[in-house]
Amino acid sequence: MTRQQIENAIEIEGLRKTYAGSKRTGPKEALKGVDLTIPRGSVFGLLGPNGAGKSTMINIMAGLVVKTTGKVRIWGFDQDENPRQSRAAIGVMPQELNIDPFFTPREALDVQAGLYGVPRAERRTDEILELVGLTDKADAYARTLSGGMRRRLLLGKALVHAPQVLVLDEPTAGVDIGLRQMLWQNVRMLNEQGMTIILTTHYLEEAEQMCDEIAIIDKGSVIVRDTTQALLARMDAKTLLVRPASGAPAFPLPEGVTREDRADGWLAFHYPRSRVSAGAILAALAAAGVEVADLSTAEPDLEDAFLDLTRR
Ligand SMILES: Nc1ncnc2c1ncn2[C@@H]1O[C@H](COP(=O)(O)OP(=O)(O)OP(=O)(O)O)[C@@H](O)[C@H]1O
Ligand SMILES: [Mg+2]
Repeated sequence: MTRQQIENAIEIEGLRKTYAGSKRTGPKEALKGVDLTIPRGSVFGLLGPNGAGKSTMINIMAGLVVKTTGKVRIWGFDQDENPRQSRAAIGVMPQELNIDPFFTPREALDVQAGLYGVPRAERRTDEILELVGLTDKADAYARTLSGGMRRRLLLGKALVHAPQVLVLDEPTAGVDIGLRQMLWQNVRMLNEQGMTIILTTHYLEEAEQMCDEIAIIDKGSVIVRDTTQALLARMDAKTLLVRPASGAPAFPLPEGVTREDRADGWLAFHYPRSRVSAGAILAALAAAGVEVADLSTAEPDLEDAFLDLTRR
């Protein structure tokens, strides 16, 4: 198999991780047999509540945490059989802001390039500093960098060896709007250039906008994996918003529809779209003699899907 024919950037089979823990807490099973494939060229979202096991999975892929059992293939390279190649194919921006305070960003990128055996002539230090917006801080000591600047540097470090797969573990947690936009622009650009991107975020709107496909992890297991679109389409709940020309008295509604009178004068009708149509609700309004001044419908968003799935 040549690398050109690879279909999946990541293939994970039966992945388990039990942390030894302390005497007091005992062992912790963080991953309970995860199977997951991440297609080449995608922007893939790993979502899940705190403690679900996302970082554990990412850190195993990165070679930072040792798995208990299971198979991990990165860019077709088995992590155990071809550790060097599998590591070279992936770059990880970790959740923790672990940065050596005594290096400047330029030095940190150089050290990282050295670790990955990137020859001097092929290093793109200035280009990467520019890309992550650290050109004017290139020679400042890392301990003087703000939290956001450290994140920029971590992204730069993940890119020095030009990996095929880039993993971002909560890149936008607590960052300002400028940095968030920079991150998403870079993600889009790198993805357009062919890089596979895996990211975690707790901002579901962000995942909805950025990710082609999503896996939701809960308590160490993947509970759903689908395209973002299909995930949203699965949601049955829909809302019809109506602003009556004058007040609306109580009137009979099709079965399954609930009415909510909002403070701003709008009426929200929540209905299962598999069984009820918006037309049936409008017909009920007309039959009750309610004149409609304005209306709109609201689609479920990823947040609804997420809460629905993780609550079960
Ligand atoms: N080094 C460790 N030793 C023991 N337990 C750990 C260790 N690292 C993580 N855990 C536990 O494993 C579980 C999964 O943690 P993990 O960091 O992978 O979650 P996460 O999905 O990344 O959460 P978050 O959204 O908060 O970042 C948690 O219960 C956590 O307490
Ligand atoms: Mg995490």
